[in-house]
Amino acid sequence: MVNPYLPQESIIEEVIPETPTIKTFVLRPENGLKFSTGQFIELTVPGVGEAPFTPSSSPFQTEKVEITVMDVGHVTHRLHQMREGDRVGIRGPYGRGYPLEEFYNKEVLVLGGGVGFAPLRSLLFTLLHDLSKYKRVVLCYGAKTPADIVYKGLIPQWREKIEVLCSVDRADETWKEHEGVVTTLLDKFEIDIKNSVAVVCGPPVMMKFATFKLLDLGYRPEDIYLSMERKMYCGIGQCRHCMIGGLFVCKDGPVFTYSQVKELPDIWA
Ligand SMILES: Cc1cc2nc3c(=O)[nH]c(=O)nc-3n(C[C@H](O)[C@H](O)[C@H](O)COP(=O)(O)OP(=O)(O)OC[C@H]3O[C@@H](n4cnc5c(N)ncnc54)[C@H](O)[C@@H]3O)c2cc1C
Ligand code: FES
Repeated sequence: MVNPYLPQESIIEEVIPETPTIKTFVLRPENGLKFSTGQFIELTVPGVGEAPFTPSSSPFQTEKVEITVMDVGHVTHRLHQMREGDRVGIRGPYGRGYPLEEFYNKEVLVLGGGVGFAPLRSLLFTLLHDLSKYKRVVLCYGAKTPADIVYKGLIPQWREKIEVLCSVDRADETWKEHEGVVTTLLDKFEIDIKNSVAVVCGPPVMMKFATFKLLDLGYRPEDIYLSMERKMYCGIGQCRHCMIGGLFVCKDGPVFTYSQVKELPDIWA
């Protein structure tokens, strides 16, 4: 029987510094990796442990996979010290990603904060792969300060194809765009809410206030998609560590509509 916990060896091909605390790692798994946008992998840093990450790269690129990681603890700190040529393990992909067919012919509002932009970058690559399937795509991205913005090089390229609005909580003299929390960007444009879905990913507090603002604007709970995060161990529905109410974040998610989780306890923890 195949051991489901056995990771495949992957070489770190490139390390891209994004901000003082966030790096993107370009990994080349021995046997490649096929995933759907929004699914996650379990990454092993040898001698330290495992942690879940959502690929930030395009699912159409299967020989390499990219993850964008914030340095917050044991696994992520050691990973941040690793260099090109070092080896890590990958298992997965796991969970359910974004149900793209539900987005067809709709106005897709993508709302991200901080390192929560990682799965959204993968989603944007997917939407941009065949933009004609969607009526409109609007990206609203917020970070604490201009120095905390990830994927700085990509934003001008995306602006040529979709609407992009950026904000920072605290501007400096270099900042020419909006100042304020990311949800304040939602006051700056009109959207056909009845024919729109909103996809949100960011720190729990951002997801909470973004969801409430979207509901105030008239979005239905079933049209708001959230990427939920919970402490995970197995990633495959065996250990129960990731449960919210009766749902497994690893198996039933990590992407849920707000209508699926709104009655569950402590969803913004
Ligand atoms: C499905 C999923 C996808 C994820 N994708 C990404 C991603 O693309 N990029 C990224 O940077 N992170 C992502 N995370 C979060 C990432 O898994 C955690 O930051 C990582 O597990 C921390 O491990 P550590 O050993 O470095 O930290 P630890 O030493 O375990 O903990 C350090 C600190 O981080 C907190 N912490 C640990 N895990 C989490 C978590 N899951 N959520 C919030 N706080 C946590 C702890 O409470 C503690 O304060 C994702 C999590 C999930 C569940
Ligand atoms: S992480 Fe083990 S059941 Fe979800």
